[in-house]
Amino acid sequence: MRNLPDTAKINKQNHLEIGGVDLVDLAKEYGTPLFVMDEATIRSRCRKYIDSFRKYYPNSDIAFACKALCAAGVIKIVTDEGLCLDVSSGGEAYTALKSGVDPKKIYFHGNNKSIDELKMAVEAGFGRIMVDTSQEIKNLDAVTRELGRRAEVMLRINPGIEAHTHEYIKTGLIDSKFGVPRNEIDEAVRFIRAQKLISLVGFHAHIGSQIFDTKPFVDEAKLLLELTKRYGTKEINLGGGPGIAYLSSDEPPDIETYAKIVGDVLRDKTGAKLALEPGRSIVGTAGVTLYTVGAVKDVPDVRKYVLVDGGMADNPRPILYKAVYDAKVANKVNDKPVEKVTIGGRFCESGDILVRDIKLPEIEAGDLLAVLCTGAYSYSMSSNYNRVPRPAMVLVNNGAATLILKRETYDDLIRNDIIL
Ligand SMILES: Cc1ncc(COP(=O)(O)O)c(C=O)c1O
Repeated sequence: MRNLPDTAKINKQNHLEIGGVDLVDLAKEYGTPLFVMDEATIRSRCRKYIDSFRKYYPNSDIAFACKALCAAGVIKIVTDEGLCLDVSSGGEAYTALKSGVDPKKIYFHGNNKSIDELKMAVEAGFGRIMVDTSQEIKNLDAVTRELGRRAEVMLRINPGIEAHTHEYIKTGLIDSKFGVPRNEIDEAVRFIRAQKLISLVGFHAHIGSQIFDTKPFVDEAKLLLELTKRYGTKEINLGGGPGIAYLSSDEPPDIETYAKIVGDVLRDKTGAKLALEPGRSIVGTAGVTLYTVGAVKDVPDVRKYVLVDGGMADNPRPILYKAVYDAKVANKVNDKPVEKVTIGGRFCESGDILVRDIKLPEIEAGDLLAVLCTGAYSYSMSSNYNRVPRPAMVLVNNGAATLILKRETYDDLIRNDIIL
């Protein structure tokens, strides 16, 4: 199934198994909620990106957008596979540096970077700094002069391209806080080129996330190609990758199709290097979140709620974007689906619903629920709402589990409180 990690299996006990590890055993050992990441799926997506782009546009670099999942254990895997890293804050950059990533392989994003963040990027010698506004160019100019160091920048433009996805994850529309509008590109290029220690390497755009339609990517590639020719720059960065199948019925373009369509637009035209920053399509399908069912609440003739021990704080996407998910009962995965239920979280918001109206086997307190495709933008968007500690994260591979993020404790929650 498209929305399960590559190694998912149902074992003899009728339990869901990932990476050769029985999820029921995993929940017993590490507790729930628990983020589970399948190493083989992450590695296979990285290889697919590299191999596909090598085939259709050999002069390319793939950077993992770690906003999708910023954890040292995952950064280690993707960089091990030869990917660069897209970071979008000082905190992500710090995690990357502490994880041993070569600074030259770091692309630094952010539509409103602080002076301290710019200093960090210039001092560490990050490979690319994406600039978003003329104010930022001014700030970067001041920082490079102060530190006496050069910076190579990509100008993030606002392509004005409509992509069919949720309003909050569209980024390339005219009315967007990201990127320099098309009619201001000329001025921005002149301004960058007038700075002593900043070099303009090329143009960057990102049209949005969770996109299935390939046409907007073609339009984006054509636009960046035109700018590359016009300004004689040497690098094109197309931003994030295509969407993923959250439901088994979803049909996103696969990575090779995406490589082919953009490769076909750009190949043999300028010799510019191509860079991409996929996040979701590398880690999304690799992750599931395990929850324990605490109670089943039947509201006769209205709805049956299955209440679990996590929810909007470990996965805010449903409440933020009305994102839809699929789920399995991990301890009786092959039982016949018998009833429609709604999976509700434990947090104090009526909107804290993880999955609405899903048909599942008969379910009772103590069952283990696996919500699928939670590898991207769940942990990275999580919070401590209601002062609930964040779950642990475990990497599974070849029958072994490795803890990569510890479960937060109550002491972690109050570590910055000043008790008067
Ligand atoms: C600038 C930029 N690059 C890359 C990404 C990653 O996108 P995706 O996870 O859809 O591949 C994002 C996500 O929004 C982004 O804003």
